[in-house]
Amino acid sequence: MTGFDVEADGQRLQKVLARIGLGSRRVCEDLIAEGRVTVNGEVAELGRRVDPEADEIAVDGAVMSTVVDGVTYLLNKPAGVVTTAADTHGRPIVTELVPDDPRVFPVGRLDLETEGLLLLTNDGDLAHRLTHPSFGVEKEYLAEVRGRPSRAAVRRLREGVELDDGLTAPAKASVPGDGLVRITIHEGRNRQVRRMMEAIGHPLERLVRVRIGPLSDHSLKAGTWREVTQAELLDLQRAVRRTGDDESGGTVTGEKG
Ligand code: URA
Repeated sequence: MTGFDVEADGQRLQKVLARIGLGSRRVCEDLIAEGRVTVNGEVAELGRRVDPEADEIAVDGAVMSTVVDGVTYLLNKPAGVVTTAADTHGRPIVTELVPDDPRVFPVGRLDLETEGLLLLTNDGDLAHRLTHPSFGVEKEYLAEVRGRPSRAAVRRLREGVELDDGLTAPAKASVPGDGLVRITIHEGRNRQVRRMMEAIGHPLERLVRVRIGPLSDHSLKAGTWREVTQAELLDLQRAVRRTGDDESGGTVTGEKG
C-alpha cells in the first residue's frame, strides 16, 4: 500500500507534544497517561502514533497546532492599512509589513482605520479556530469616542446592544477616562465596535485593539511586528475553546464575567 501509514510512518505522540512546547517528553508522556490528550476526539493511549499534519491533537480540550513550519506574527497595525493579503486598489496592505516568506495571511480583520494588534499566520487551522465565533476568543479594544458615556450607556454595552444584525452578546465595558471606552467582545461581527458605539450615541473617533485572548504587547510600535513565542502560542491555543455549538457566538465561555 502506498501513502501515509500512521503505524509505520507516524510520530510518537509524546514527541509531537514535546516539539510544540508542552514540556519534556517525560512530561508529555504523563499528560497522555493522565488521559488529558485526545487524538481526533478520542483519549490517546501511551505509545500512540500520529500524523501531525492530519490528526487533530487536543490537550485538556484545547486543539494544538502541530504545523511543522508554522509561523505566526503579531503586528501592530497602523491606521490606513488594509487587512488583506492582496488589495486591488493599490492601497498599503498588512502583509507588506511582515516578511513575505513564508507567506502568511491575516487572522480575522481590522477595519482600515482601526489600529492595534493583528495576528498573521501560515497555519490555516489555527486561523480558523481564532476567528470562528463558536470558539469565543476575547478581543479587547480601547475606543476614543465622542462625549463621555453615561453609566446607562455602559450598561447597554454590557447587556447587549440591538444592531441591525441582531443583539450583541454581553461585552465587558468600562470608561477609564473622558471620551474613552475599554470594551471586550468575542463575536467579531463586521464593524462591531463602531456600530455598538454609534448605537449608544458615542460615535468612534479612534479604535485600537489592545488584546487578542491572552496576547497583548504595549511595547510593539505601530507598523512593527514580532514573532509570537512558543509559550504565547500555547496560551493562545488554550484560550481557543469551543463555547458550545452556537454558531452565532452568542455564548460566553466559563471564565468570562
Ligand atoms: N470593531 C470595529 O468596528 N472595527 C474593527 O476593526 C474591529 C472591531
